[in-house]
Amino acid sequence: MTEQITDLSKLNVLVFGGTGGLGRAISQNLASRGAQVTVIGQTFRDSDIKNINFIKTDLSSIKSSQNLAHELDVTNVDLVLFTTGILASKQKQETSEGLEKDMAVSYLNRLSILKILLPKLPKSTNHGFKGSRIFIMGFPGNNQLGSPKDLNQDETYHYWTTHMNTVAGNESLVTSLSKTYPQVKIFGLNPNLVKTNIRSNLFGDGYLGTAFESVLGWFTNTPEQYANVITPLLVSPELNDDDGGFYNHKGQKIPGSKGLDKEYADEFIDASVEVLKKKGIDV
Ligand SMILES: NC(=O)c1ccc[n+]([C@@H]2O[C@H](COP(=O)([O-])OP(=O)(O)OC[C@H]3O[C@@H](n4cnc5c(N)ncnc54)[C@H](OP(=O)(O)O)[C@@H]3O)[C@@H](O)[C@H]2O)c1
Repeated sequence: MTEQITDLSKLNVLVFGGTGGLGRAISQNLASRGAQVTVIGQTFRDSDIKNINFIKTDLSSIKSSQNLAHELDVTNVDLVLFTTGILASKQKQETSEGLEKDMAVSYLNRLSILKILLPKLPKSTNHGFKGSRIFIMGFPGNNQLGSPKDLNQDETYHYWTTHMNTVAGNESLVTSLSKTYPQVKIFGLNPNLVKTNIRSNLFGDGYLGTAFESVLGWFTNTPEQYANVITPLLVSPELNDDDGGFYNHKGQKIPGSKGLDKEYADEFIDASVEVLKKKGIDV
């Protein structure tokens, strides 16, 4: 995946979570090469870049996420990235819809949005892709299968179990939906550890969080370095002949988690749909 990127002026991109961290760095990188990028999040930080537009949405609300997905015109969309995320906090947090917050922000909104967008996305794109490309960022390939029996952590709560449910859920989205919607290409991205804002909901903005991120920054890529590596992969012609799967922080293909096959992924998605149904949300 080492081809030079030339002109991305025909490329239309949607980035859920493109207002901060890795999604923002990728959005800026694509925009600097001419792409038209729409970022979705809570706080717009790139109003000075003319080819980045902003849609303000609280993606912790599944109903707001679904409304947005219905409204979006995706006829000309080449790439859709999902980079929205938080880490679960030590005490369980619930959204106004009764969902555990990390599950809602980092996973369930993606499931809900994808169910609406996938049938609408083009089978071939102006930029020349065979099918729109979806990139789901998470932590795939780490053998995390989650706990599908108590996905909303109503019986017991631990922040790590909860976050690993979001990890398994995002990997399941790639494995399950790429077989169900073969007209589009669905990939999973594992960025490895990068210094961003992702851990603030767990550590808070105090000393511990700042110290952790500082130390992390000594050893790992910056978001901009990660974006520089991954952008060529996102637009690579080689992905036209790839039928989905997972890519690491170097843009190399990696295997999925052991035991997370299509059957397991389908069951995980079904269990997630049930969680939403219990809260009165149809997917
Ligand atoms: N960084 C890492 O070390 C690491 C490692 C493995 C996997 N990942 C995964 O990579 C992805 C990106 O993480 P990151 O490190 O870039 O995190 P980040 O810096 O915290 O960025 C998260 C993004 O999510 C958005 N967001 C959070 N809550 C939202 C809400 N309620 N409504 C709308 N948008 C919301 C933020 O937008 P606003 O600022 O506008 O709210 C921001 O754009 C996540 O899926 C994460 O799990 C990251």
